[in-house]
Amino acid sequence: MRLSLRFILPLLVVLAVFAYAVLPVVDGLTVRWFMRDLDIRANLIANTVREPIAQSIRIGNTERVLQALTRITEDERVYGVAFCESPLATPLAAGTLPPGLRCADLSAFTDQPGHILTSEQGPLMMSVRAIAEDNRAAGDLVLIHDMSFVTRRSEETRRYVFALFVGLGVIVSLLTVVIAQLSWRGWEQGMRALLRGEGLLRAANQPDVPEFRPLARDLRELIRDIESERRPRDEDHFAWSPEALRAVLHNELRGQEVIVVSNREPYIHMRREDGIEVRRPASGLVTALEPIMRACSGTWIAHGSGSADRDVVDRHNRIDVPPGRPGYRLRRVWLTKEEEAGYYYGFANEGLWPLCHIAHVRPTFRTADWTQYVRVNRHFADAVVREATSPDPIVLVQDYHLALLPRMVREALPAATIITFWHIPWPNPEAFAICPWREELLDGMLGSSILGFHTQFHCNNFVDTVDRQLEALVDRETFSVSYRRELTAVKRYPISIEWPLSADLTATSVEECRSAVRRRHGLPDNQAIGVGVDRFDYTKGIEERLRAVEHLFEQSPEWIGRFTFIQIAAPTRSGIEEYDIYQTRVRTLVDRINARFAATSSLPAIILLSAHHEPEAVHQYYRAAEVCMVSSLHDGMNLVAKEFVASRDDERGVLVLSQFTGAARELAEAIIVNPYDTDQCAAALRAALEMPEREQRARMRLMRGLVAEFNVFRWAGRMLIDAAGMRKRRRLLDRLVTSDARKEQVSLVDQNA
Ligand code: F6P
Repeated sequence: MRLSLRFILPLLVVLAVFAYAVLPVVDGLTVRWFMRDLDIRANLIANTVREPIAQSIRIGNTERVLQALTRITEDERVYGVAFCESPLATPLAAGTLPPGLRCADLSAFTDQPGHILTSEQGPLMMSVRAIAEDNRAAGDLVLIHDMSFVTRRSEETRRYVFALFVGLGVIVSLLTVVIAQLSWRGWEQGMRALLRGEGLLRAANQPDVPEFRPLARDLRELIRDIESERRPRDEDHFAWSPEALRAVLHNELRGQEVIVVSNREPYIHMRREDGIEVRRPASGLVTALEPIMRACSGTWIAHGSGSADRDVVDRHNRIDVPPGRPGYRLRRVWLTKEEEAGYYYGFANEGLWPLCHIAHVRPTFRTADWTQYVRVNRHFADAVVREATSPDPIVLVQDYHLALLPRMVREALPAATIITFWHIPWPNPEAFAICPWREELLDGMLGSSILGFHTQFHCNNFVDTVDRQLEALVDRETFSVSYRRELTAVKRYPISIEWPLSADLTATSVEECRSAVRRRHGLPDNQAIGVGVDRFDYTKGIEERLRAVEHLFEQSPEWIGRFTFIQIAAPTRSGIEEYDIYQTRVRTLVDRINARFAATSSLPAIILLSAHHEPEAVHQYYRAAEVCMVSSLHDGMNLVAKEFVASRDDERGVLVLSQFTGAARELAEAIIVNPYDTDQCAAALRAALEMPEREQRARMRLMRGLVAEFNVFRWAGRMLIDAAGMRKRRRLLDRLVTSDARKEQVSLVDQNA
């Protein structure tokens, strides 16, 4: 109302001033119009009586003149009438004349416009008209008209004009109030859209505010300035550590609890003959997230897949981990065999995995698998909602197994900050369109506040896919998607590993690791070793790598018997036909290559270790090797490359790295190869084996510097800092919305009253 009064009051003042100025003008005009009318009447009367009066004067019959004058006074407007034969004569009069009227005074008024006289009865108008016959002057006719009716009319007119201005004031005020309110609401909506980061893009059911456009850029800049002033930047923490991450959580997110949700659990309890064994799975996701959870505490929700998992949890299916030095809580979700088959093996790993990797294995999509995928996502979402201790938790959703979960959680906890990280590549829109449930998946993912990928290329692919598949607004300047009136920021967060490595992993010296590994495999002390560490997966390019080793021996036979390649391949996803076929093919290939060079040397060319290895064992191989080869055909990041670099505190060893990994964008000092190019890969292996120590050191130092600076705490820290910024902006918006809602409540109360 205060806003409307600001418009109305000045308007009413202007109208009042205008009315005040207009009234005398209208008054003057009315008098002038009436005087003109009376003049015309005077002429008419004079013309009518001219002849009889002139004739009566000529014959000296003043009686008839008086009769004519008396008839004239019968008109109610005529106050009095007189006839002067000459200036010296006494006027012949009828009706009432103003006192002191003399014929001698009339000559100045003859045939002039009426002259106003004042009297006790009000204003009078005197008109004097010459009466003549045959151009002979007979005298002057004096007509006195009553003007008091003009005063009355003028007052009436004044009243009408006043009423007109009041009416006008009311109508214009009402219109102003309505227009002001509508415009203000439009402005508010526009402002909120900008604060939400939606720019000027708005949903079809919302009116656009074109007047707001010029302000959009200024406002965006202002918000950016405010945020950059208030927000910690990741450069503020040059050395990202668990402490720095905890500080972000504490200072920026008010110590809010973090809930991680993933398919794979960080600790698997397995039943063995001699008791229960705890395993750490071969998983980049676990490698990255586990140190984060140790730093932040909170709850990690995951599928309980171990044979003894149920035996160790409490009645809420929770267990504190890591075993022996608890730092956070693991909440297990149980799946039936059918659910696991459809959701994990089927939809996730026979459908989405090959779809996103484009590694020459056709994706398979089955409706039954999709049904289980939806069902299991619902199980996980329910667990998140149950574990949340506040209405606005920070939920970190991991990977392609849980694409529907962000939307499900958003519906249950609208104020949650949901950060989804997609650990695998995102294909181009054409490839993604193969999936029959593409829209549902995108809808699910866009329940997130932030969606993270390893590379900008994958962010671009995702945004292009949304643009192609959904009715969503895509802002390529801020890289965000506005969908179902919610905003999702799409951002690049290259994942990494813990730095520095846990002391357990580097406790054994490089020399000891070298001899232990060589001793274990019956290799001489001076045997050069190459190492590959992967899940036994067709995307990892293990066949291509082994062919490169074979080709190295073909090209440089001097290395036969002096170099052995040890491939650790952790069993994975067995039961999926493509994996079984692939693993059999690799085993056959290893046998063939070994048999081929067995004649030249008794030492094996390739050692395939198809078994699970705990991190300590894997790091022993990293530290023992001259070269580590990562030849993935397509990989979101590949943390093996970073782990190898981190494990080499002796600054020795060479990394051969596929150009199709996210890691290749960061580790430029590796020897970058195309895994499909066997010649190039063999040459890279040879270059690595023959690389001078100084060059190895120089390359390794640079790569270690990068992994140290861009470690996993920075990865998580950047996401949490961005989440904190979003939460602040949301709180600001909520305040705006709340004050709006409060206003609405007040107006409702007013109406009810
Ligand atoms: O690379 C994708 C991914 O989910 C990783 O996050 C993880 O390292 C790996 O696959 C593990 O796969 P799984 O959980 O099927 O053993």
